[in-house]
Amino acid sequence: MANAAEGAAVKGGFRAWLNKRLPVDEFMQSQLLGYYAPKNFNVWYFFGSLALVVFVIQIVTGIFLTMNYKPGELTAFDSVEYIMREVEWGWLIRYMHSTGASFFFVVVYLHMYRALMYGSYKAPRELLWLIGMCLYLALMAEAFFGYVLPWGNMSFWGAQVIVNLFGTIPGIGPGLVEWIRGDYGIADSTLNRFFALHVAALPLALLLLIVLHLVALRQTGSNNPDGIEIKAKLGANGKPLDGIPFHPYYTLKDIVGIGVFLVAFAIVVFFVPTFGGLFLEAPNFTPANALSTPEHIAPVWYFTPYYAILRAVPDQRLGALLMGLSVLVYLFLPWLDRSPVKSVRYRGWIWKLALTVFTVSFLALMYLGLQPAEGRYVMLARIFTACYFAFFVLMPFYTRIDPVKPVPERVTHHA
Ligand code: HEM
Repeated sequence: MANAAEGAAVKGGFRAWLNKRLPVDEFMQSQLLGYYAPKNFNVWYFFGSLALVVFVIQIVTGIFLTMNYKPGELTAFDSVEYIMREVEWGWLIRYMHSTGASFFFVVVYLHMYRALMYGSYKAPRELLWLIGMCLYLALMAEAFFGYVLPWGNMSFWGAQVIVNLFGTIPGIGPGLVEWIRGDYGIADSTLNRFFALHVAALPLALLLLIVLHLVALRQTGSNNPDGIEIKAKLGANGKPLDGIPFHPYYTLKDIVGIGVFLVAFAIVVFFVPTFGGLFLEAPNFTPANALSTPEHIAPVWYFTPYYAILRAVPDQRLGALLMGLSVLVYLFLPWLDRSPVKSVRYRGWIWKLALTVFTVSFLALMYLGLQPAEGRYVMLARIFTACYFAFFVLMPFYTRIDPVKPVPERVTHHA
């Protein structure tokens, strides 16, 4: 019987048939059941999987938006209105997408803050951190291009301000700005290329970077709230004594986090989609108008810490330079931090004070970036900009003299 192999496959059922052709079980065994993660994860470890969830929400809702959105100076704004009023469930798709953008940053900021608290950027996870930073930069670009698409008045003027920043680069600045816009002003061609970047180039880049991020994470294994390398203490089975299989323990735990997240997400989408003007700003409900500048041009809340730094400096060139540095400085964290200890739990008072100053400065700058750049707001922005940079610039010094505590041999776990 020519079908002996087929017969055997039928005996083993569909699963055996599939595994012969695609290593599903092998993948599950090596990546989920056989992957041991530290047993002391706390709520801060929800945000990686939540970032994945938001990414999927953005891709799915984005595809449906693209079915009805029409890029172009004369069509973009009206097509968004059409989606909101005429397309069935269009309002839901759009609010999910706009809320998703803000939630993406909430989740990613908390994810990054966790890394700061537990020293997850330190060796051996430097590359994981750098890939994370590339993700953050790509996410910022994705959000910026998306914000321009509805072609509201803030889209237009926001694009104007941000693209003009490239004009401060000595020598090539003015030419570069024209090249980015594809015109002498923010125009139809700018909108079309931003659309291409938003729906094709950057989602692909994000996907690729997420895969790299997870491969790098799998290679080193996760850090944990104690900042101890669990691979250093193996049991008789060759698995870390302080580890538990990722599946079912963390797959189930993550589902709880996802449930809570979706409730919060639904509350915003259904009851406060504009979030008091923070997630969708009032001037963006009027069409782009090159002759009427909004009273206060401000980006969406997740960019405002950097925007506050830009405006804190009187000289536009220096302001743009400091703004760029304030984002890129995170790339150097693994090398700026000289502490022998990873987690904040075992660091001394100097680090705890520095981290508090940084946290307060970041949040204060976020608030100040939303205020008009005048009077005491500018003064405060200058003070917090200085504190923000001091956290990084002084780090190699204070992390060396910080009175750290002894780190336990095994992770601490309170069931
Ligand atoms: C689309 C954005 C992102 C996704 C989907 C993502 C996904 C994940 C996932 C699933 C994990 C493992 C679970 C966890 O530890 O929470 C993780 C860990 C990690 N991520 Fe991300 N991430 C993103 C952005 C970032 C960014 C922007 C950074 C930093 C610049 C970053 C740095 C890290 C670090 C250091 C870890 C290891 C943390 C530890 O083990 O303590 N990630 N990421």
